[in-house]
Amino acid sequence: MEKLLIQGGVSLDGDVRISGAKNAVLPILAATLLGSSPSKISNVPHLRDVTTMMRLLGQLGASLTVDEKMAIEVDPTTVDSCLAPYELVRTMRASIVVLGPLVARFGEAEVSLPGGCAIGARPVNLHIDGLKAMGAEIQVEEGYIRARAKRLKGARIFMDLVSVTGTENLMMAATLAEGTTVIENAAREPEVVDLARYLIRMGARINGAGSDVITIEGVERLSGCAHRVLPDRIETGTFLVAGVMTGGRVRARGADPTIIDSVLAKLAEAGAEPVIDGEDIEIDMRGKRPRAVSIHTAPYPGFPTDMQAQIMAMNTIASGTGTIVENVFENRYMHVQEMQRMGADIRLEGNAAIVTGKDRLYAAPVMATDLRASASLILMGLVARGETLMDRVYHIDRGYERVEEKLSGMGAVIRRVQEMPT
Ligand code: UD1
Repeated sequence: MEKLLIQGGVSLDGDVRISGAKNAVLPILAATLLGSSPSKISNVPHLRDVTTMMRLLGQLGASLTVDEKMAIEVDPTTVDSCLAPYELVRTMRASIVVLGPLVARFGEAEVSLPGGCAIGARPVNLHIDGLKAMGAEIQVEEGYIRARAKRLKGARIFMDLVSVTGTENLMMAATLAEGTTVIENAAREPEVVDLARYLIRMGARINGAGSDVITIEGVERLSGCAHRVLPDRIETGTFLVAGVMTGGRVRARGADPTIIDSVLAKLAEAGAEPVIDGEDIEIDMRGKRPRAVSIHTAPYPGFPTDMQAQIMAMNTIASGTGTIVENVFENRYMHVQEMQRMGADIRLEGNAAIVTGKDRLYAAPVMATDLRASASLILMGLVARGETLMDRVYHIDRGYERVEEKLSGMGAVIRRVQEMPT
């Protein structure tokens, strides 16, 4: 079994190249199904979730080719199945984004319910209700969502909660519907905008992506095209926090500085002065200790829930006390116990975590519980005294490309080890 071994106490110093965004590439790969010809998606990060999505598209019958730069060409003209099976969906909840494209393009879909998830109930009712409003007949039975529609019809859809993949599913479905669809209270995440950009290039008529009202005028057909995925803002933020926590200097190269304002503002408050130079963002914390900050997570442009655990990690060694309020997911504090085992002072009160910085943390064997939790534990390991051994590395591999290589490139002492089961 693979584990990560991290020797704490080294200040990072160096550059790191930012990969394409996981949360953009997954819906974009699903959207290739909408085309009547092949699409080529580039700047694709080498991640376990991407491999899962490729397996899923392959299972549907799409033909995939990957070049040496990890650009993926998807030919949807060979699709001959509409089934997303449990074995794939259970390893990646985001598989649900094939639901909208399948119903819209092929008139049917059978997608496994994602099931329970470590960070909260995460239902998919908004996806289902939206498609029903567009005229799909949907049954949820035997753990599967079974949807049918001759041709979807445009509808006005008000989303009760802001849902990222919910908005994406409905926006994709609406591109081939008859008539106009209006999605109100839509997610404004940059990844929704990147998906819309790709769809528009395919021939879709979409207005308002990036605002909370998206209008889609359905068209008869979409054509495949080339698209370059936007940079990953969560990966960017994670590496910048690593620089701040270790009292180092980190330059994130090839990032998109326009989409992480809320994170940069908090890093500035912590005492780092992020400097933007084109597509690069640099923080220099040499000789300084961060100040604790308070955050409350919210849909974009609010503070991203996917950066909550990393900011908590920063607070554990900062000066002062910061309060973290998690508003997007219930039960997204699984990392707290592991952090406490490394000496962190964290008090939980409902959906708030009050964190008081310590002068020192101590290495311990820790267990990653989900993707972002695993990132935060690596950050803790970078500053803890001693060697931290992190179990369940597969979580980090779902969303961070070559994480140990990228951190080592900035001086971190971290390596992957094989441990025989006892
Ligand atoms: C996406 C991101 C994930 C991020 C999250 C919030 C992808 C692939 N994943 O997940 O990294 O943490 O946005 O920014 O883009 N909800 C419902 N009913 C629904 C759908 C959602 O009640 O039908 C609730 C969820 O339980 C949650 C909230 O809405 O409390 C937001 O979830 P949502 O935005 O849908 O998250 P995902 O799209 O799954």
